[in-house]
Amino acid sequence: MTDTILDEAAVAAAWNRNADLWTREVRHGRDLYRELYTLPAFLAFMPPIAGRRVLDLGCGEGSNTRSFARHGGVMTGIDLSTEMIERARQEEAREPLGISYQIGSFSELAPFGDEDFDCALSTMALMDGPDLGASLRAAFRVLKPGGTLCFSVLHPCFITPAIEWLTDGTGAHLGLRVGRYFERTPFVEHWRFSRRDGTEGQAPREPFTVPRFPRTLSEYVNAVIDAGFRIVRIEEPRPGEELARRHEWLGRWYRHAPLVLFVSAVKA
Ligand SMILES: C[S@@+](CC[C@H](N)C(=O)[O-])C[C@H]1O[C@@H](n2cnc3c(N)ncnc32)[C@H](O)[C@@H]1O
Repeated sequence: MTDTILDEAAVAAAWNRNADLWTREVRHGRDLYRELYTLPAFLAFMPPIAGRRVLDLGCGEGSNTRSFARHGGVMTGIDLSTEMIERARQEEAREPLGISYQIGSFSELAPFGDEDFDCALSTMALMDGPDLGASLRAAFRVLKPGGTLCFSVLHPCFITPAIEWLTDGTGAHLGLRVGRYFERTPFVEHWRFSRRDGTEGQAPREPFTVPRFPRTLSEYVNAVIDAGFRIVRIEEPRPGEELARRHEWLGRWYRHAPLVLFVSAVKA
């Protein structure tokens, strides 16, 4: 797939292939970073959404969308992957939370009108689309004045195309080496959720295939500003101290570098 053009069709195809395994793993709680670290931190970071019309950009199979619905948001999810949306709709039919799911790109948001939403949330998805500028302009269009955009992405300064944990002889983490920060060439990454002990394992039998679009921190921040938003808060959350003490695979993100970047911005 390295010679393939990484456009939205390639992104959709990759996530269609990932959908079955992804859905099974997420729903069995095997995405430990989400369970213990990134989702609790995002729920604490996002604005109050009870009674608000909220759009989830790149909702996938809908686990986080359902969590937002349980926090009172009147939820709509959109995703490029027909397979992901099919699974999200099946779950909504099984346990209705009043969520509407649409197939489409968050770089257009074609199913929605101007100023349809009070809030746009997105977890770990905007980094997976090729056109960040268009995605943020589309989010701006569908938000009401005063509406909030709040998203998480892999931290662009630390999850660069070349990263390596530095360890001592005992396996303790000494730091994170990052490289190729300025590289902008999209690439395809193969990975899997960590095992229970947090190790990534070797030779995964069923890897996820994810097109990646590396961007610098300034590109993220400037794209939000250029779309017309006013940034109100940025956070680089750490795992909880107690969890970090208990699990070394979280402790390394507590001590050395944040895994994710959160941005909150308003349509002034
Ligand atoms: C890492 S998954 C995250 C899914 C979900 N937000 C979650 O946290 O479980 C990224 C999702 O973004 C979707 N995606 C990527 N590019 C997209 C685009 N341009 N428009 C809509 N969805 C997109 C993928 O299909 C995939 O479901």
